[in-house]
Amino acid sequence: MIDGKTRTLGLIGKPVEHTLSPVIHNNLAEMLKQNVVYVPLLVEEDLHAAISGAYALNLLGMNVTVPYKNDVIEELVEIDSLAKRIGAVNTLVRVPGGYKGYNTDALGLKRELLSEDITVEGKYTVVLGAGGASCAVVHLLADMGAKDILLLNRTVEKAEQLCAQVNAACGRIIAHAGKLQDYQAEMKYEEYLAIQCTSVGLHPKDTECVITEESFYQKIATGVDLIYNPEETMFMKQIRSKGKKACNGLKMLLYQGVIAFELFTGTTVTEEAAQDIYRRLKEELQKNG
Ligand code: ATR
Repeated sequence: MIDGKTRTLGLIGKPVEHTLSPVIHNNLAEMLKQNVVYVPLLVEEDLHAAISGAYALNLLGMNVTVPYKNDVIEELVEIDSLAKRIGAVNTLVRVPGGYKGYNTDALGLKRELLSEDITVEGKYTVVLGAGGASCAVVHLLADMGAKDILLLNRTVEKAEQLCAQVNAACGRIIAHAGKLQDYQAEMKYEEYLAIQCTSVGLHPKDTECVITEESFYQKIATGVDLIYNPEETMFMKQIRSKGKKACNGLKMLLYQGVIAFELFTGTTVTEEAAQDIYRRLKEELQKNG
């Protein structure tokens, strides 16, 4: 029920119409009896006007998506330390004078890894892709105590840049860059935790995979694909065919929303409520093919 006390939350981006975030936040609001409503907010171009206007209109909080996750940092009055290191923000929480920025993409993946019993500490890790999503992942892996991060990308310069940024933030060499096609020479260890952060294999190109060779998968002990549509990507299929564990990115999406909701409203979302939202997200994805 929307009434005189309802507070507004929303998603800023361009485009915003395909988002699943309203499913997460509006259902959580109902379950946790919070008087908030979550709406898409298309920002055509003037991000500064959008953020100051949102504050003036008393918006409680916002998520931020492509193409504003980096540029929005300039519009904040405060920023969380992990988000600052990553250089990208996807959640704005209202504080006196403006908004504080967080990166719940990274925190969402962290909660997914914990919920799937996937350990990062002391592990050799390989990350495929060096775009925006990969940036959050690489900083998170460093933060969670990975022993080593091998960052492979088609355009090696982007991987080198990201590695330099992560190594500078850590004060030691933890990340190494390589060309995707040179994976065999680069993968010196026996076993890796692999995180797939490229857009290859995303629906409708379900049968594509960024690396297809057997020799890569022989070294993967556990894999996470950030893609969640299709539910089982080719990357996951290859890992599972070796009897190993693989997950998609739907729980990361779920938990980035759950954590943002907790930050917006100051409430705690139980695991039971989170699982309920997870079911609804799956239904929504099935509906949309
Ligand atoms: P996101 O924000 O989701 O990370 P992005 O910043 O556009 O999206 O990054 C997409 C990633 O997928 C990049 O690492 C890109 O590689 P390049 O940096 O070489 O462009 C990777 N990618 C996209 N299509 C690819 C393909 N056909 N083969 C290999 N990598 C691909």
